Amino acid sequence: MKILITAGPTREAIDPVRYLSNRSSGKMGYAIAAAALKRGHEVVLISGPVAIDAPEGAAVVNVVSAGEMLTAVQERIGEGIDAAIFCAAVADYRPVALATQKIKKDDSGHLTLTLEKTEDILGSVRSQMAYQGLLVGFAAETHDLEKHARQKLSSKKCDLLVANRVGNPGAGFDADENELQLFFADGHAESLECQPKTVLGEKLIEIIEKLGEAKT
Ligand code: CTP
Repeated sequence: MKILITAGPTREAIDPVRYLSNRSSGKMGYAIAAAALKRGHEVVLISGPVAIDAPEGAAVVNVVSAGEMLTAVQERIGEGIDAAIFCAAVADYRPVALATQKIKKDDSGHLTLTLEKTEDILGSVRSQMAYQGLLVGFAAETHDLEKHARQKLSSKKCDLLVANRVGNPGAGFDADENELQLFFADGHAESLECQPKTVLGEKLIEIIEKLGEAKT
């Protein structure tokens, strides 16, 4: 298969020295990319800024902001992609105006930023990019995980939604391990117990291969 993966956070600039971002190391997305390459798939890895090396053999597109990630996905999704996996922690909001000079402190004790929504990249691939291949979304939730995951599965028209609970000690952000709940478009659900992200990447690729076989 030809697999597109988004990974890492995005950064939305406030001024020349500051940005808004999300907690994401990129480890989960990079582990999926490595597992896909190991299984002989072709990988396009669209990545926000991370501190880890991309797996050898991936076609890497480095981006910074949500707008740049959207453009990169628009440019690559039409190139015969069989499966698209949206693992990136895209910033949901960006400052309406980018200050061209560093914002200086004043005496008020407060600073108000006006933010606007970024483009929902995953949410637009079916409706606006006419993408018909396998679609996998991610969700990080602090509460009502199943309810939110099933809502995202259906509203973003995914075949699979991979959810993890935020706040489990030793798992999730920056950690090498994670615990995942999988929700499929046919209604069934599966759990992957806490284990290294490298192993989770391999298991997810096996599941995506099976979904691909079922679809053809
Ligand atoms: N996503 C995206 N573009 C965005 C925001 C999110 O492509 N602007 C993708 C993520 O890569 C992930 C999924 O959408 O696969 C997360 O869904 P979303 O509903 O945006 O999750 P949250 O940002 O956690 O939403 P909420 O804050 O409402 O929980």
